[in-house]
Amino acid sequence: MNFTTIKTDLEENILTLTINRPDKLNALNQTVLDEVDAAMDQAYSDKNIKAVIITGAGEKAFVAGADISEFVSVPDSEGAMLSKKGQDIFFKIENCPKPVIAAVNGFALGGGCELAMSCHFRLASPNAKFGQPEVNLGLIPGYGGTQRLTMLVGKGKAMELMMTGNMITADEAKSLGLVNYVESAENLISKTREILKTILSKSPIAIAKVIEAVNFYFKKEGFQEEAKLFGEVFMSEDKKEGTTAFLEKRKPIFK
Ligand code: COA
Repeated sequence: MNFTTIKTDLEENILTLTINRPDKLNALNQTVLDEVDAAMDQAYSDKNIKAVIITGAGEKAFVAGADISEFVSVPDSEGAMLSKKGQDIFFKIENCPKPVIAAVNGFALGGGCELAMSCHFRLASPNAKFGQPEVNLGLIPGYGGTQRLTMLVGKGKAMELMMTGNMITADEAKSLGLVNYVESAENLISKTREILKTILSKSPIAIAKVIEAVNFYFKKEGFQEEAKLFGEVFMSEDKKEGTTAFLEKRKPIFK
C-alpha cells in the first residue's frame, strides 16, 4: 500500500507501523489517522501479519498529539465527530485480534499518549515523555484518553495528569503501570520483537480471546460521553484561544 504519512514494514510476520512526520513531531492529522486505519485493516485481514508494532519516526517523538493546526480549521460544530473518528480508529487497534504493542520512542502527548494506550501494552525509551496536555489548549482528551488513562493509572493520577497537563518521564510512566518496560532507544524495537516472539509462539486463538476478554472490561458509554464533552469544549472561546496561542507560540489567556 502507498502511504504518505506512515511507513509500514513487514518482517518475520511482524508489521512495524511508523508514524512518519518527524518535522511535526509525528502529529496526527487526518491523513495519518486514515492511513493508520487502512494499515490496521490490512493487519486484520493479511494472514502474513501476525503482530503489529506502532512507533514514531525520528528520535524526538512517538506522537506529539493530534495536529493542532487542523483544530483551527475544523468547524466548531464538528468536534464530537472528530473525536468519534479518532476513537473508532483507536478501537480498531485495541480490538485487533493480533497483538499490537507501542514502542514509545519520545514524546507521547495528547493523541500520542492515547494512541499508545490503545495498543495492548507499551514499551518506552528513557527519553519518552507522556502527558495529556489538552487543557493547555482549552480542550480535553478526545481519543479515549479520559477512559484508558484512568483505567491504566487509576483515577487520582489520571485526574492530576489531565487537569495539570504535566508530562511524566518514562520511569514515572513505568512506576504507574502505563508502560511495561523502559529500554534503551537502540534496543527498544528489538526488545518489543523479543516479547512478540514469545506471544507468537502461543496459540493465536487463545491470544485473540485474551484480547477480547480483557477489552470487555471497558464501558462503551464512557467513550461516548468523552466524544460528547469534547464536542462541547471544541465550541468554546477557550479552545480558540488555546489552539491559536500554540500556533502563535505564546501563552494562552483563558476566560
Ligand atoms: N500539532 C501540530 N504541530 C505540532 C504539534 C501538534 N500536536 N506538536 C508539535 N508540532 C510542531 C510544532 O508546531 C513545530 O512546528 P514548526 O517547526 O513548523 O514551528 C514542530 O512540530 C516542532 O515542535 P516544537 O514545539 O518546535 O518542539 P519543542 O521541542 O520546542 O517542543 C513539545 C516539543 C512536544 C513540548 C511541543 O511541540 C508541544 O507542546 N506540542 C504540542 C503538544 C500537545 O499539546 N499535544 C496535544 C494536542 S491535542
